[in-house]
This record gives sequence, structure tokens and C-alpha cells, in this order.
Amino acid sequence: MAPLMEKIAEALHLKSHHKEKEAKAEEHPAVTAKQVFDSSKVTVVFVLGGPGAGKGTQCDKLVQEFDFCHLSAGDLLRAEQHRENSEYGELISTYIKEGQIVPMEITIKLLENAMRAALEEKTTGEGWGEGRGRFLVDGFPRKMDQALKFDEEVSKSSLVLFFTTTEEVMLQRLLKRGETSGREDDNEESIKKRFRTYKETTMPVIEHYTKQGKVASIDASASVEEVYEKASAVIKELFAGQLSRSVTV
Ligand code: ADP
Ligand code: C5P
Ligand code: MG
Repeated sequence: MAPLMEKIAEALHLKSHHKEKEAKAEEHPAVTAKQVFDSSKVTVVFVLGGPGAGKGTQCDKLVQEFDFCHLSAGDLLRAEQHRENSEYGELISTYIKEGQIVPMEITIKLLENAMRAALEEKTTGEGWGEGRGRFLVDGFPRKMDQALKFDEEVSKSSLVLFFTTTEEVMLQRLLKRGETSGREDDNEESIKKRFRTYKETTMPVIEHYTKQGKVASIDASASVEEVYEKASAVIKELFAGQLSRSVTV
């Protein structure tokens, strides 16, 4: 384990799981020693889109229909920020207010731990049991380094659900959400910074997965129900094994 990862894992009270990975590779030679979760058993759908596009809203609905475990990278970071004795609270708070991307080691470790906990706890339900599981990883990967590391070392993603709309729509939604969310980044100054990071840092991730034929783009300007109809149809196709290229719906 790289020294930085080791340090972060220790600080977050996270165990090293390399032994576990090596043992798994011996049992199943087809599983690369580097990946934590077997992608033939674990379905990972990344959910992307600009701030306020409606990722969390749509994930909440997809969970009900398809029995996904919904993991929002932003929520996991905020929980870590507020965890007592977290060494990273201040760092995370600064990155979030500035709309910057938190160093990937922290976010990936939080996601990995949450996935492991879900696989241990949830053993019944469609797509679950005997090491199987299905995850909506919301707001991740926001930067190329996160995308490459997760696919290579955690579990290979199957699909990117990409919610698109205009900055004006996103701004209005975020300002409205800011009236009650209590989030320190739902204000005009932070929102502008988040839009900039989205364009400069996250769009290359979308381009990367579009080239791999893994992106389903969904216009998120319409009502929650109308957007959901499209999102649900895409996921149905995914589970039916009928998605083989990037699509716009
Ligand atoms: P994200 O997770 O992408 O930042 P959210 O799901 O939190 O976005 O949505 C941002 C705000 O916009 C929330 O207050 C939500 O209720 C609202 N919202 C989400 N989708 C729609 C929609 N299709 N139409 C109108 N408002 C929406
Ligand atoms: O997705 P959400 O809007 O909740 O993310 C809030 C903030 O959390 C982002 O603006 C960013 O500062 C941080 N974040 C991150 N890396 C991610 C997801 C979120 O640094 N993959
Ligand atoms: Mg969200």
C-alpha cells in the first residue's frame, strides 16, 4: 500500500485489505489481485451530472425500483467531515466550500468501506447475496484519477448515468435547495466554483467513458417523474444485458 494511502487508512481507522485481496486472487485466479470487489458479482453504476442536476433525487427512486445500494460520495465526505476525531474534517470542509475535488485516496477509501459494509449486511434482495450486490455511486468519479483508480483497484464500473441540464436550471435548483439544506456550498459563490470544477475536471471523465461506450445521457431539465422514466428504462436495459454503447435518451 502506498505510504499516503496507509496514512489515510490509519487516520480514518480503516484496515488494510490487501491480504483479503491476495487471498481472493488465489481462490479465483480470474480475479485480478488488484481489485477489491469481483466485477462479475458487483454491479457499479456511476451517477454523474453537474451540481444540482438531480443525481440524488433520481438515485432515491432507482433504489426503490431496483434494490440498489445508493452511495453518494459527497454524503460520505460530509459524514467523515463531521465524524468526531476525524483528522480530515477541516481539509474536507475547505475543499467542499471551494468546490474542489478532495484527494481521491480519502473518497475511494470511504466508498470501498461503505461497499464492503453493504455486501456484508445485505444478503437478500434482487441482485444480492453470496458476494453479489448492485451500487449507485453518486457524484463519483469527478476527476480522471478517481475514475482510473476505482476501475482498476476497486471494481470495474458497468455504466455512467449522466444527467444533463443548463447551468441556469442547476443554479435555480441549488439556490432553492440551499434554503433548507444547511450545506455550506449551496450559496452563489461556492456554486460558481463548483460549476467551474465540473466543466474543467469532471467533463473529461464523461469523455473518457463515452469513448468506452458506457455513458447513458439523460436530459434532466424535465420534471422528476419524466426524468425518472428515462433513467429507469436505461437501468432495465442494463440488467437485461442490452446496453452495449453510449446512448442519449
Ligand atoms: P444533485 O444530487 O445532482 O446535486 P439533487 O438531487 O440534490 O441534485 O437536486 C437538487 C435540487 O433540485 C433538490 O432540491 C431537488 O429536490 C431538486 N430537483 C431534482 N430534480 C428535479 C427536477 N427534475 N425538477 C425540479 N427540481 C428538481
Ligand atoms: O455530490 P455533492 O454535490 O454532494 O458533492 C459535494 C462536494 O464534495 C463537491 O463539490 C466536492 O468538493 C466534494 N466531492 C469530491 N469528490 C467526489 C464527490 C464530491 O471531492 N467524488
Ligand atoms: Mg447530490
